[in-house]
Amino acid sequence: MTNGPVPPQPLPVVARAPGKCIVFGEHAVVHGAPELAFALDLHTQVAVRPGASFSLNADPRAAEEHPYFRTALALRWSGGGPLEVRSTSRIPRGAGLGSSAAFCAALVAALGAAQGGVERSAIAQASYDVEKGAQGVGSPGDTTTVVAGGFVTVNGPGDTALWTIRGSERDWEVRRVVDPGWTWVVCHSGIPRATGDAVRSVTQRLRSPDGPALLADFARVATEGIHAVRASDRAGVAAAMHRNQELLRTVGVSHPRIEALLDAAAPEAEGAKLTGAGAGGSVVVLPKPGQETDLVRRLARAGGLPFVVVPAVEGVQLVSEPVP
Ligand code: MEV
Repeated sequence: MTNGPVPPQPLPVVARAPGKCIVFGEHAVVHGAPELAFALDLHTQVAVRPGASFSLNADPRAAEEHPYFRTALALRWSGGGPLEVRSTSRIPRGAGLGSSAAFCAALVAALGAAQGGVERSAIAQASYDVEKGAQGVGSPGDTTTVVAGGFVTVNGPGDTALWTIRGSERDWEVRRVVDPGWTWVVCHSGIPRATGDAVRSVTQRLRSPDGPALLADFARVATEGIHAVRASDRAGVAAAMHRNQELLRTVGVSHPRIEALLDAAAPEAEGAKLTGAGAGGSVVVLPKPGQETDLVRRLARAGGLPFVVVPAVEGVQLVSEPVP
């Protein structure tokens, strides 16, 4: 587990960060409720070298037009000269699996290494600042998970404190949770979605008269789910996943394709729900032990893009050689 700083390294620098999968608490975390997420063993890699002008994947317009790239340069690169940046990723985009958080974290880590090294807590804060600056809304759940690796809670119970992320309206406490060692299945619906739009629509929904009660339900379900993960209680986790999905449906971020995938998963699933912003995106399933392959087949027949995932132990890190 890498909880240490990213060391100094002169350019060129290559960094990579994992994706993420939220098990409990998406959306509600934006409003201060607990979340549990783990880092995914799919990565985004960012290579940074001096260039004749700023570019991302050979596109010079990105320094003005790519919101995450532009914001990262503005917040984290202090006059060291133009940079040529290349980014490659195995994390499907728009799938709710943390592709933008991984890009932010890998770029922030690489820029930090080139400027004398950087503490991991500072990478977590800066990655959130970049993502929030580019997206306009959101919590630090995604960025903090891909910086920390493993399982983490935001504003929830945990084993050890990692760091506090400061926001304009609230702070978030981040804690490490021990990986229960289970295999999970994630399935992309193929329906892309925009996180910012989904966050804004749930925020609106939570402003209605039953909003506070709904938010309290989100918080209670996530807390119960986190306790169940820490106790390796699969039945408790499954029950909390189902209740979390009901709440996500109530606030309007499920989708017919998501519901079809959840129905398809049911015979082989202990627990299942959407993961990430919803309104498309992906589902996460806790499969019945030994039924992972049948589950993957069933989800593929239902038209999804399923894969078995093992949580990634390491968070963002430098790589000496480019990783394919
Ligand atoms: C998106 O992956 C998770 C949300 O809770 C938004 C956020 O926390 O920034 C929907």
